[in-house]
Amino acid sequence: MCGIVGIVTTGKDMAADLVVGIQRLEYRGYDSSGVALLNGSGLVVTKDVGGPSELVRRETFAGLHGTTGIAHTRWATHGGVTQKNAHPHLSCNGEVAIVHNGVLANYRELRTALEGRGHKFKSETDSEVFAHLIEEKLKKGVAPREAVRLSALEVEGTYAFAVVMATHPDRLFALRKESPLVVGFGAERTVIASDPLALADSCPDVLYLDDGELVEVTSGGATAWKVATGAPVARERRKLEGDFEVPERGAYPHFMLKEMAEASLAVRAALHSDPDAVTRGAQKLLSAKRVFFTGMGTAFHMAIFGHQLVAQYARRFCPAVTADELPSCVFHEPGDLVLGVSQSGETYDTLRALRGAKAAGGSTLAVVNVAGSSMARECDQSLLQGAGPEIAVLATKSALSQAVVVARLALEAGRLSGHLDAARHASLLTELNALPVLMDEWRARIEKECQEAAARFLGLEKWFFLGRGLFASIAQEGALKFKEVTYRHAEGMAAGFLKHGTISLIDGEMGTVIFVPPASTGDLRAMTLYALEEVRSRGGPLLAIGALSPGERAHVDACITTPGKGELSDAFLQIVAGQYLAYYTARALGRDIDRPRALAKSVTVP
Ligand code: G6P
Repeated sequence: MCGIVGIVTTGKDMAADLVVGIQRLEYRGYDSSGVALLNGSGLVVTKDVGGPSELVRRETFAGLHGTTGIAHTRWATHGGVTQKNAHPHLSCNGEVAIVHNGVLANYRELRTALEGRGHKFKSETDSEVFAHLIEEKLKKGVAPREAVRLSALEVEGTYAFAVVMATHPDRLFALRKESPLVVGFGAERTVIASDPLALADSCPDVLYLDDGELVEVTSGGATAWKVATGAPVARERRKLEGDFEVPERGAYPHFMLKEMAEASLAVRAALHSDPDAVTRGAQKLLSAKRVFFTGMGTAFHMAIFGHQLVAQYARRFCPAVTADELPSCVFHEPGDLVLGVSQSGETYDTLRALRGAKAAGGSTLAVVNVAGSSMARECDQSLLQGAGPEIAVLATKSALSQAVVVARLALEAGRLSGHLDAARHASLLTELNALPVLMDEWRARIEKECQEAAARFLGLEKWFFLGRGLFASIAQEGALKFKEVTYRHAEGMAAGFLKHGTISLIDGEMGTVIFVPPASTGDLRAMTLYALEEVRSRGGPLLAIGALSPGERAHVDACITTPGKGELSDAFLQIVAGQYLAYYTARALGRDIDRPRALAKSVTVP
């Protein structure tokens, strides 16, 4: 993924602002970080292993100065996590510095050819070729912008690049192809970044670049050009929209804990977003020829949650397919609708799946948290979650707010299609609207029971997370949260799969978390309890999440209690329980909770 920031000022020192910029983008990766600065004494690169905040703590960036510069925070794809592989990368003569987000598919061929022409590489990255390509063209007398553009024509893959040159200290160049990039305009400075979050406090006006565009940025503004032809592009500046206030952690030890505590607020916001937009979205769902739900990670689990509810309430089967696989198994036709769920609105795979639908004449609907993100801008309709910024890498409050948006869509589709009669629709709506209060009432109890369960089962290294129906998506989500932050093996699946092979692994060392639907679900609950018994009879440690009778409790080792008032509301409370279980287990294990290893909040690479 990686985060990129670049700043050009009228002559003011901005090294510290550049570092703050990449600190804000740390959610995109934190393997290593670095800056390239132009000041009176040429181009200076400072970089090392560790995220920007860690390097600030180690004072790596202390005492730096510059009036133009680029910076990077890395999530490694090509080349290990080393100082040499950290960005920025320099050309042989040290006069061109580049930072890159994305993956260059043809870098090996380019590197071999460049080495054949005498270039010496310092890193193992795919990115470094770009600095050498530009250097070659500059040496031949090609003008700077054209050198960048011609180099871009040689690379294949995905990218957002920012480039500075020692010979032109008053400007930088930035370009994108399937990786986000925004230009911001502030007082005495122009800024480029992978995410408006990095420039929100200094730039009220922005310009979003489209794929295949290049900007030349000076302190006075930016001009955009087509990479393919070199023709100028007229692009309107617009006011930056959205909530970019960087939240404080306050008294909470981790952002994850704070954001879980804020979940009821996020749910409330999602409940109150524009009802007409929900109706329009539901109409689209019902009138489309075929509908596919998609997303990645947590967002995909919330897409499954939505697909289950639309099936139940509107009797419409809208399969949920992960966005990375959707393009290879769905051949779109006009009349198709793809509904993409994404907190960031920038996830590469999800964007690709949505773009594929559009290119084939289909339409797109996004459930997205970040206003102004690529998905919010590109989709035919977007339903904004309004969950506010989420800082912890793990999605918590945003997941619950996504679940609300898809539940509202499903309820509305049920009403419009006539499959939900007025009384049932009203009662489900009441259940949904009561969620914020219910979540606040139950949070402390769930949190305490999760903390106890985490301590009790800390010795277990392997887990299955099981659930059925709507609760299968919750089991998958619970397992994802658990493995992401505890680094322990956790496999989520529909409980029906247990007896088809999985059961052979159940023994005293293999834990099972089972998500039990409330009594009102009848067969669904009964069949979930069969799975519980199958685990028990093989001596597997059992942790149930749900409303269990005293007799049922005697059959499990521990239980995290949810209200069991209704299927919909219990589903939400069980998502909450899965999050707290992951959090307290990770905390007891001493994990880096807000920055778990090898993760990034938004995955913008293939
Ligand atoms: C990464 C993150 C997950 C997130 C997923 C989708 O895998 O680590 O937490 O759920 O991306 O992100 P999105 O921004 O599309 O919701």
